[in-house]
Order: sequence, then C-alpha cells, then structure tokens
Amino acid sequence: MSASGEYGLIETMHPTGGVSTRPPWVRAPEPMILGNGAAVRLRAIRPDDAPRLLALCDRLSPRTVYQRFFTTRRLRPADANVLANVDYDERMAIVANVDDGHDSALIGVARYAPSDDGTTEVALVVADAWQGLGLGSLLLEALLRAGGERGIHEFSADVLAENRQALRLLGRHTTITARRLEHGVVHLLFGRLSAVETATARAS
Ligand SMILES: CC(C)(COP(=O)(O)OP(=O)(O)OC[C@H]1O[C@@H](n2cnc3c(N)ncnc32)[C@H](O)[C@@H]1OP(=O)(O)O)[C@@H](O)C(=O)NCCC(=O)NCCS
Repeated sequence: MSASGEYGLIETMHPTGGVSTRPPWVRAPEPMILGNGAAVRLRAIRPDDAPRLLALCDRLSPRTVYQRFFTTRRLRPADANVLANVDYDERMAIVANVDDGHDSALIGVARYAPSDDGTTEVALVVADAWQGLGLGSLLLEALLRAGGERGIHEFSADVLAENRQALRLLGRHTTITARRLEHGVVHLLFGRLSAVETATARAS
C-alpha cells in the first residue's frame, strides 16, 4: 500500500490525470496495541464521523474539553460537521477507534489545519479513559507523518501552561523550535522527529 494509503486514504486518478487522495476509503491495515493491551485502529477522518465526534466530545470530562478547546462549551452538530470534513491536504484529521471489528466509537482525534497566524496548527484529544496508554503519541506521530507526506514540516500548537501531559507529549515526540508563553498559554512551533528519534522516544 502506498504511504498515503496508510491511514485510510487511497490514491485515485483524477479525470485530468492528477492523483487525488479523496475517498474511497479503507481502514488502516494493522491495529496498534496500547499500554493496556487494547488494539486500536487509526484512519483518516470521514464526513460520516460527525456524529461520532459529537459522541466523543459528550463523553469527555470538562477538564479534557477545556484543555482541547479552551472553552467548556461542547461541540454543536454544525461544529462536528466542519471538523469531520477535511481536504486531506491543508486540513487533515486522524481518528482512533477500538479494533472490535465494527466502526465503533472514536477514542481519539488528532488534526492539523491552517491557523490565523499562518502556521499549521495541531490539536489532539484522547478520551479520558484512554489517556496515558500511548494513544496520544501514536496519533501525533501519524498526523505529523501525514503532514510530512503533504509537504508540511512545521507545525504549531497552543497548550495551556498547566497541561503537563500535552507539553510532555510534544516535548518527547517532536522537535520544538520555538516556545512562547502568553496569558497562561504556551505557543509552540515544532517539527516531526526523525525515524531514529521516534524509535528512541518510543523505547525510553
Ligand atoms: C494530551 C493528550 C492528547 C495525550 O494523550 P495520551 O494518550 O494520554 O498520551 P500518551 O499516553 O501517548 O502520553 C503522552 C505523554 O504524556 C505522559 N502522560 C500521560 N498521562 C500523564 C499524566 N497524567 N501526567 C503527566 N504526564 C502524563 C506520558 O507519560 C507520555 O510521556 P512519555 O512518552 O514520556 O511516557 C491527552 O492527555 C488529552 O487528550 N488531553 C486533553 C486535550 C489536550 O490537552 N490536548 C492538547 C492540546 S491541543
């Protein structure tokens, strides 16, 4: 399978002869094993994930919602539709679900999209019960790899200064090139680790 097919994207030929990474869709070929032994699958988000995004957001604790969205307001259906519809190029999202043979509930999402400041902003969330098992690291690596395959090599993220998990995740799994603290939010610029560095981060 081609690299761009890895997270559920199949390359198809445009009538004009160019290559597109639009649907049809497949699931990622291999499940990944988390720290608790559970098998999960990562794949590119699809428009029909909008209700699953809403359900995931409804299950999140207020703290996790705040850390992800910087507000306690839950997603509305219109927001979920926007988030579930990406162009798989400048806007990308990878979702994780438990590998139970069904297209079951989402347990994590990582996305990037252009930000107002001209950077490509990354945001991640993992369902509370699934945090601390390595899923955030897998999603982040998959997302940055997808970005790299599309020529995006520098990313940004805004993280609450008190959010130790997210700062630790980004500190261990990316190369941070700039860091600015403003009003309790850490603004980070970073790139993807090399394959060797990724293996070292996983092993340590
Ligand atoms: C940040 C987040 C995505 C990490 O996901 P996760 O699945 O827990 O991540 P991992 O299990 O891969 O752990 C990542 C790192 O955080 C560390 N970590 C996990 N839980 C922790 C905790 N409670 N306290 C401190 N560090 C913790 C892990 O040890 C790991 O570091 P390591 O690689 O050195 O072992 C998840 O905590 C989350 O959804 N938080 C709310 C939303 C958010 O903060 N998003 C980021 C801003 S957009």
